[in-house]
Amino acid sequence: MQIFSLIPLLALCSIVSAYPSEKSGAIAARSCQQEVAAFNLARREKRGHVKRTFFPVLQNLTCVAAPETPRVDYLPNPLLRQNVTEGQVGVSLILDIGVLDVTTCKPLPNVMVEVWSTNALGNYGSTFLRGASTSSSTGIAEFHTIFPGHNSYSANHINLMIHTTSSMSGNISHVGQIFFTDRWTEVVGMYRNYALNTNPRVLNKQDPNFQLANSAGYGAIVDIMSINDDWPLGVTGYITVGVDPSRKA
Ligand SMILES: *[C@@H]1O[C@H](CO)[C@@H](O)[C@H](O)[C@H]1NC(C)=O
Ligand SMILES: *[C@@H]1O[C@H](CO)[C@@H](O)[C@H](O)[C@H]1NC(C)=O
Ligand SMILES: *[C@@H]1O[C@H](CO)[C@@H](O)[C@H](O)[C@H]1NC(C)=O
Repeated sequence: MQIFSLIPLLALCSIVSAYPSEKSGAIAARSCQQEVAAFNLARREKRGHVKRTFFPVLQNLTCVAAPETPRVDYLPNPLLRQNVTEGQVGVSLILDIGVLDVTTCKPLPNVMVEVWSTNALGNYGSTFLRGASTSSSTGIAEFHTIFPGHNSYSANHINLMIHTTSSMSGNISHVGQIFFTDRWTEVVGMYRNYALNTNPRVLNKQDPNFQLANSAGYGAIVDIMSINDDWPLGVTGYITVGVDPSRKA
């Protein structure tokens, strides 16, 4: 299990505009706000999502996960694949992970991204809903998965790990968890297999990892948009993850 460590940076979200940088930090503190806004907007535009959102306005600067959370429920060497669904029943989720190099404020291409999460019943499997894929030339790692159910000890989340290179055995620049609004987990929780989940519901504010992931002005909430205004058919989720590629954990 990794100990929480905060990449010393200026906050990338609009909520906090002046987070003090850590004095011991090896990289220069800077804010990537404009670049994050442009990156987020471009990805939504590409999928035609700019005008049709669950939220009344596009939240440019939310969805930047940078603080680390402990690595839990991890199995090494997942299959190289973008579709990790493996027949699991649930609300389809196209997860668009934008990887941003926070030392340059530029999208980070060709780095290995691993994801793992629970099924609708809140259980981890040995292979399902686990996989790894490299970020594209435009810094996007896209996965086809399902909206995760909650297990007994944490709010609904997806775990992710980002390597410094395209190799799975390369060093790790980020380990984190990304979350959903309580409203989305409540709505999805009424649907199909999610309703059969017997774990007590854990709200975001009750999960310490949510607090970690959403500290220092960062936002680790996936921005969910429904497909065809009919969300049970599936949703698309956007998150931008800030990494320092020179960090070698
Ligand atoms: C998002 O960014 C665009 C372009 O920078 C800007 O025009 C718009 O006002 C921003 N929206 C919000 C909600 O901040
Ligand atoms: C992903 O795999 C599942 C089978 O597990 C399949 O039903 C689904 O159509 C696939 N999704 C995509 C986008 O290919
Ligand atoms: C990981 O980082 C260490 C320390 O910088 C380096 O010596 C090693 O070659 C790196 N490993 C890989 C696989 O890149």
